[in-house]
Amino acid sequence: MASAEPAHPIHEGRSFKILKKERLTPATHRFLIEAPWVAQAAKPGQFVIVRVREGGERIPVTIADFDAPQGTVTVVVQEVGRTSKLFGALQEGQEVLDLVGPLGEPFRLMRGKRVIGVGGGFGAAALYPLLRGLRQAGVPTEAIIGARNKELLILRDELSSVCELVMPCTDDGSVGFKGFVTDCLKQRLQVVQPLGEIEVVAVGPMPMMRAVAAVTAEFHVPTQVSLDPIMVDGTGMCGGCRVTVGGASKFACVDGPMFDAHQVDFDECVRRSKMYRSEEQLSNAA
Ligand SMILES: Cc1cc2nc3c(=O)[nH]c(=O)nc-3n(C[C@H](O)[C@H](O)[C@H](O)COP(=O)(O)OP(=O)(O)OC[C@H]3O[C@@H](n4cnc5c(N)ncnc54)[C@H](O)[C@@H]3O)c2cc1C
Ligand code: FES
Repeated sequence: MASAEPAHPIHEGRSFKILKKERLTPATHRFLIEAPWVAQAAKPGQFVIVRVREGGERIPVTIADFDAPQGTVTVVVQEVGRTSKLFGALQEGQEVLDLVGPLGEPFRLMRGKRVIGVGGGFGAAALYPLLRGLRQAGVPTEAIIGARNKELLILRDELSSVCELVMPCTDDGSVGFKGFVTDCLKQRLQVVQPLGEIEVVAVGPMPMMRAVAAVTAEFHVPTQVSLDPIMVDGTGMCGGCRVTVGGASKFACVDGPMFDAHQVDFDECVRRSKMYRSEEQLSNAA
């Protein structure tokens, strides 16, 4: 019998037009993209896989915001290599070829009654929907966001609208706390830990997430990190995103990307993330 429902809703009614583009730092852009099916199903913590153009590679990008009635999703893209640079060059009115999602497991609280989000680079963008969702559910939220300097700090205002407190950190002290997010986190945990159960969620470069995990382990604070290993298909079939968590093999695309930070084998994550360095350099030079 014929059904009115599309067989694969996430691929139907596709357009993926860029409705708005904003430059957040010299190498980071925020895109508002028309993607009604994804917007309807998206939950904080999930990601999409984007193919910018015909013949191009697919890259995973976190859903930084979604609006079901408007049918839009927001992504923040940091240009690091060939594909993210092609993405960053797209303009309002242009389209991305494919945008598949939402993928991954949504974020779930472990047991915190207050949540501190720690973000570095595009990680601040990934924190926004998590902290907004928690705030709407009545959970007190705070954010610690870090960058090398004031110009590279992103989404401070947006995070302020969903957090009781936002603590910017810069390596050069041009704004906020002078130093790493982990030093700021340590100071903050000394203040808030005695007040009740806290949970930390960290999104950013692997060394930062690893350092956050070391700090929160000292304080016995449950912590989740959003792992970003190499992903290929995003469906749990290719094995590209395998990580070891609590001694068990997991696929970040279907079991994650959020995992218990104190159970992650970061040594293996770092080793695996360097596996394709020479191919990436060749691709960048092409
Ligand atoms: C779940 C998840 C969410 C992500 N969210 C964002 C986001 O919101 N914004 C953003 O700017 N970036 C995000 N990334 C990282 C982004 O996917 C990579 O920066 C991008 O794939 C790099 O591709 P490239 O061709 O530009 O660079 P390349 O030259 O191929 O690689 C540059 C760097 O990116 C890493 N990388 C390369 N390919 C992948 C891949 N397929 N998956 C993951 N990392 C890769 C490499 O280890 C290398 O360090 C996310 C990654 C994951 C896994
Ligand atoms: S990306 Fe292929 S298994 Fe996760």
